Order: sequence, then C-alpha cells, then structure tokens
Amino acid sequence: MKNIVILISGRGSNMEALIAARDAGNLPVNIAAVISNRPAAKGLETAAQAGIVTHYIDHKAFAGREAFDAALAECIDQFAPDLVVLAGFMRILTEGFVRHYEGRLMNIHPSLLPSFPGLHTHQRALEEGVRIHGCTVHFVTPTLDHGPVIIQAAIPVLDDDSEDDLAARILIQEHKIYPQAVRWFAEGRLRLEHGRVRLAAALNDRAALISPEPVVTVLENP
Ligand code: GAR
Repeated sequence: MKNIVILISGRGSNMEALIAARDAGNLPVNIAAVISNRPAAKGLETAAQAGIVTHYIDHKAFAGREAFDAALAECIDQFAPDLVVLAGFMRILTEGFVRHYEGRLMNIHPSLLPSFPGLHTHQRALEEGVRIHGCTVHFVTPTLDHGPVIIQAAIPVLDDDSEDDLAARILIQEHKIYPQAVRWFAEGRLRLEHGRVRLAAALNDRAALISPEPVVTVLENP
C-alpha cells in the first residue's frame, strides 16, 4: 500500500475528505503523517483524533524559505512517502523542494488552472465575470499553482453568487476530486507524458477496458 504524507496550513477539510475516503475503503493508502507549518492549524487536531501522526514545523522560526523547506523535507522523508499531498498548504515552495518530490507532489487549488493562480480566486473569478469556475488537482512544478492537471471540477457561476457561495460550492467538488486523484495515483494509473497526465485504464474495471475513463470534468448540476 502506498504511503502518503499530507501537508496542511489550516482547517484541513480536504485532508478530512482523504481520511474519510480511506476509512470508507475507497482510498487504499496509508496516511503516514499530517504536517502543518502553523502550530494552531485546526486540521492537526482532526488528524490526531483520527489516530494519525502529526507534526508542525513553524515557518516563522526559520530565517528563510530554504531553511524551512529543508527542515520540512527532513520531517517528511522520515515517513518515506510515495506521495506528498498539499491540502491547503499555503506556502510558496522552493525549487529544490519541488524537484526533490518531482512526480510525487500533488496540490489542490480552488480555480480552473491555469486561470487564477495565487490567492482570492473566487473574488477574482467574480470580478472577471467568468461563467464557469472550479478547482484543480495537479502535480506541482516550481511555478506557483502550476503543473500537469490530474482532474478538474467545474461549476456554473450564478448571477447572484457571492465569494462565499462560490467557495462553499467549490469546496464540495474539491472533496470529491482530491480523493479521486490520490486514488488514481495509489492505483498506479497516472502517467506523465510530455508534461501531460494520462490516466491508464483500471485493470479490474471491465467498463474501463472497453472505454478508458477520461480525466474527468464534473459539471455540478445547477
Ligand atoms: C482549499 O480551498 C484549497 O483548494 C486551497 O485552500 C483551501 C484549504 O482548505 N488551497 C490553495 O489555495 C492552494 N493554492 P482546507 O484546509 O479546508 O482543505
């Protein structure tokens, strides 16, 4: 079974979705540890209650990004993860850190990348007047909120949507697509070809053998 380490900075609802999927038997991974850069992250309590090893490494205690990332990598590597899962981990990572985990570092971002990398994605989507918004799970490259897309979910932007409305409806989709992406990784079905992700058919899925499952976009029912 694949070993994963989850990095969080706060609430940890995506982490909870991964734990719930594992507990329901839908995510065949060992969650070896949850690590936060903020000691007060609520998600640390949730993970501990679920019996998962937790650590925090306070970024404020380090002189710069290089030193923090080195300490973080040292902490992560003691768990020998096959995959490192960024679940609301709100730190810009150094190139050295990203290269160290190349092909085994995943992130979720609350927009349809490459639109709206960075912060305040829902506010910016409203300001731009986009009609479709969503979330993306991708492999991480040294560029912020960038990298080969694994799965996206899209929702319609309604005329009277507020930032909070969008955030809430997109979070529901995040909680669906992140366990799905990690499951595909755990099943060894994700292949990187020329910088793009290909999803291999599931060997035990007869339907998939006939018609390979696409890397889906889920469009929420309005
Ligand atoms: C999620 O919406 C996630 O997509 C976002 O932070 C939130 C964390 O919530 N991540 C980013 O913006 C990364 N660029 P959570 O702690 O409840 O999972």
